[in-house]
Amino acid sequence: MDAPVDATGTAAWAELDRLAAGLAPDLRAWFEADPGRVERLSLSAADLHVDLSKHLADDDVLAALVTLAEQTGVAERRDAMLRGERINVTEDRAVLHTALRLPRDASLEVEGTDVVAEVHEVLDRVYAFAEQVRSGEWRGVTGERIRTVVNIGIGGSDLGPVMAYEALAEFRHPEIECRFISNIDPTDAATTLEGLDPATTLFIVSSKTFGTLETLTNARLCRAWLLERLGDEVDGDAAVARHFVAVSTALDKVADFGIDPDNAFGFWDWVGGRYSLDSAIGTSLVVAVGPERFAELLAGMHAMDEHFRTAPLERNVPVLMGLLNVWYADFHGAQTHAVLPYAQLLHRFPAYLQQLTMESNGKGVRWDGTAVTAGTGEIFWGEPGTNGQHAFYQLIHQGTRLIPADFIAFANPSFALSDGDQDVHELFLANFLAQTRALAFGKTAEEVRAEGTEESVVPARVFTGNRPTTSIMAPALTPSVLGQLVALYEHITFTQGVVWGIDSFDQWGVELGKKLAQEVGPAIDGDADALAAQDASTRALIAYYREHRRS
Ligand code: F6P
Repeated sequence: MDAPVDATGTAAWAELDRLAAGLAPDLRAWFEADPGRVERLSLSAADLHVDLSKHLADDDVLAALVTLAEQTGVAERRDAMLRGERINVTEDRAVLHTALRLPRDASLEVEGTDVVAEVHEVLDRVYAFAEQVRSGEWRGVTGERIRTVVNIGIGGSDLGPVMAYEALAEFRHPEIECRFISNIDPTDAATTLEGLDPATTLFIVSSKTFGTLETLTNARLCRAWLLERLGDEVDGDAAVARHFVAVSTALDKVADFGIDPDNAFGFWDWVGGRYSLDSAIGTSLVVAVGPERFAELLAGMHAMDEHFRTAPLERNVPVLMGLLNVWYADFHGAQTHAVLPYAQLLHRFPAYLQQLTMESNGKGVRWDGTAVTAGTGEIFWGEPGTNGQHAFYQLIHQGTRLIPADFIAFANPSFALSDGDQDVHELFLANFLAQTRALAFGKTAEEVRAEGTEESVVPARVFTGNRPTTSIMAPALTPSVLGQLVALYEHITFTQGVVWGIDSFDQWGVELGKKLAQEVGPAIDGDADALAAQDASTRALIAYYREHRRS
């Protein structure tokens, strides 16, 4: 694999440095002087309408950013990824989540195998299983139909399914509920299982590696819960066979756990955990919304992949959004990035994006092991509007930190309720429009004074404006549009990773804590040697725990 280009050594980087030093952003003036700005900077990608006009970037900046993408080889690496080259260098793996959504009649030969055929073989099995559960043909061990599906998984084996399950509430099976257990805090399993009938509950153990402590512990908890509640008269193996299925790349470990391989759905090491919603990891979602809707989600992702693959860089939405993120992170000191969906059903989308973006690009070395030479990996965060407005928007509007923000809104609500007089969705959209407008154009001291404000409080009421936002709009939050949004952010993350020279597909940073947890366990349990091996702070915290625990 080629060594990464040092972005900071490129001519484009030097040009961006120069432009950043001389930039005096004035969105009011830019909009006035340039009536074509909005049209020029409004782009389409599949069904998404993306307005980049409220960014602190003029044509020179955008051109230099595109040159940066060219000089760091974004398109070449994208094409290498799509071909199935092993661009995940530190794990020596291909990166092929895009193959999960290639249409059935496509083919992609990777190292002698047509991966599309394999993908559709598994999809067909997942679809057939989901139909059995949805129709009631799949019965629990006592002959009852399944009413609740509990997905047990963590990280990418949880966040994608739960985010999409929430987002697609409009399309769910009316008589089957999905619940999700992820945290190893036993409270998570205990509260999630509360009120469930074991006879009508099906567990999906989702783990790429089938070695994740949290997931295996929770799976054991759930198996014990199931068997204990079903009682002695029910055969344990038969119960597990009817109430447990698994999704994993490690089917041997699934069998060791006691789950029938016939009830297991595989995927491949070239699917990263945080890129796996569209693999068999989405099985709980397929049960919830049905194969047809899931196929629409995949088609939406594929449509965005095609845009990413074919649109010229200067009209390529994920590339431009990724480059603008680099612009703010590396040339304006932005440390965080807000994602603000004006759709209540996207309330888990920011959490989903946190893993996608931060596990991917939170790295300090490049794919050849050399240290990065620029800031990487912003902190992604957010909450749905308008809740965020009444919590943290104050800081975005008037604080001292620059926080680029993505606003996501839909022309139609997922669910409509009316009070008889007012279209509440319009009221909701008015808030989205008002916020992006206030952030961009602010409010001058003269405008504040003109409202008759007392002079002493004028400064507190001034809004500087020039706070950058992207507005993303779509007709409605359909499965396809959700797929487009997910793929959009995957490719934004990819673009930033390539510019920074990062392997966005490994996650070594989570390993040390996992290993230490295993070493600390015996110390908590009272093992003197293990305790002695801990640092003074850890020993003191363990002492506090032992003194205060109830039993
Ligand atoms: O947090 C590390 C990680 O490996 C994630 O990348 C992954 O999504 C999660 O753990 C769960 O892993 P698995 O699906 O193998 O249980």
